[in-house]
Amino acid sequence: MSVEPLRKLEDNMNQDISTSATSGMDKMRVVGGVKLNGDIKISGAKNAALKHMCASLLTDEPFILKNMPVTLRDVATLSQVLEALGVQINLDKENSVATLHAKKITSHIAPYELVRKMRASILVLGPLLARQHIAHVSLPGGCALGARPVDLHLKGFEAMGATIELEDGYVKATAPDGGLKGADITFPLVSVGATENLMMAATLANGETILRNAAREPEIVDQGEALIKMGAKIEGLGTSEIHIQGVQKLSGTMHSVIPDRIETGTYMCAVGLCGGELHLKNTRLDFLSALISPLKEAGMFIEQNGDDIIVRRNGAKIKGVDIMTEAYPGLATDLQAQFMTMLTLCDGAGMISETIFENRFMHVPELIRMGANITVKGNSAIIRGVEKLKGAEVMATDLRASVALVLAGLVAEGETIINRIYHLDRGYENIVDKLTAVGAQIERIK
Ligand code: EPZ
Repeated sequence: MSVEPLRKLEDNMNQDISTSATSGMDKMRVVGGVKLNGDIKISGAKNAALKHMCASLLTDEPFILKNMPVTLRDVATLSQVLEALGVQINLDKENSVATLHAKKITSHIAPYELVRKMRASILVLGPLLARQHIAHVSLPGGCALGARPVDLHLKGFEAMGATIELEDGYVKATAPDGGLKGADITFPLVSVGATENLMMAATLANGETILRNAAREPEIVDQGEALIKMGAKIEGLGTSEIHIQGVQKLSGTMHSVIPDRIETGTYMCAVGLCGGELHLKNTRLDFLSALISPLKEAGMFIEQNGDDIIVRRNGAKIKGVDIMTEAYPGLATDLQAQFMTMLTLCDGAGMISETIFENRFMHVPELIRMGANITVKGNSAIIRGVEKLKGAEVMATDLRASVALVLAGLVAEGETIINRIYHLDRGYENIVDKLTAVGAQIERIK
């Protein structure tokens, strides 16, 4: 079948999701004006953790994940999806360990009421198809970043011999007799999720799969390394050409999730905005080269010190710089909103071009309400530095936009109330405690 109609259908679904996602009435209250000083421990990467969880479907043995951001809402949501498929899950919050055991897969259906809460659920499709040879997965929802189709995933599975039907909003996929077949797949554009989904599926396929123009994000390398520990044969991780030789069976393993580079970068931008010195514990600078250069150009001090990163801005305002989001190793789209917030108080002006998602400037009107001077034209924004931001009541629209508004609140004069912070709970562990410990005045209110 052709997967083109999916674009339209998913558009409609995503609209439903973004307008109906109103549960959770908590708000955040931030009083601005303090410098940030002290230590923040960085959590395991959400966007690696979720993919590891899906990979647990590939083996009937336990998969133990350390440094897991177990308190994130996305982890809880995906746990529900996986439990519906038969995976036994234990989340140890005290030790940040998750144990997932897919001894027997009891269902091949990932239902709409669970999948709609989180788009990453589409990543159960590859593992289910590889191990069970059948998967019915509702088309995903997620945050309001535009259309975000999954056509590349589906075309890849078709190339591996799967039959894909679209029925009642579900992708119904069936592998050929004897299972998926290796294929030579060239992605027309770089997709993190499609690379991961197909890499997982290919580990148990017959023969070799080659993924060309593959994504190179550290989270994909981390996932591939865990799969290799499970017995998968993968070469080329971290490059745009990944070769996977299918094997009969994968075993369980223990793996430590890489640090969250987006959380790390978020707190770096917070220092750029508020000033002070943070020691970001247990994280890696090498994942953030594309962020470090503009931050240094803007006048910040950043240095790796063992497992920590020291980030400092004292005195002078940051200078205006220009950035463009790109697939890794370029600057992450997931840091764009935070970077923009930092630029609102810059000396001069900076320009941001967003090349990954068409609808990722939704924080702009909220920042303008707080006094920022931002002009958007197409996929570019010009941010002219202003003297100060002023506290206001604002609305979070997606995960990274939410945290950008928290950052704005940290520096704004007076009080900022951020509504719809359930977005924040999806991806930032203990953000109130972490920021309070370094001097911020921030609290969750009803
Ligand atoms: C991942 O989303 C991340 N999510 C996103 O993080 C991140 O913003 C994004 O990669 C880009 O880095 C997770 O890892 C769970 P893509 P993903 O497939 O995999 C288009 C956050 O805040 N595309 O790389 O969904 C797509 O519309 C989140 O933590 C197709 O056209 O992103 C986009 O324009 C939000 N067809 C571009 O490719 C497809 O089949 C890149 O998307 C797939 C993607």
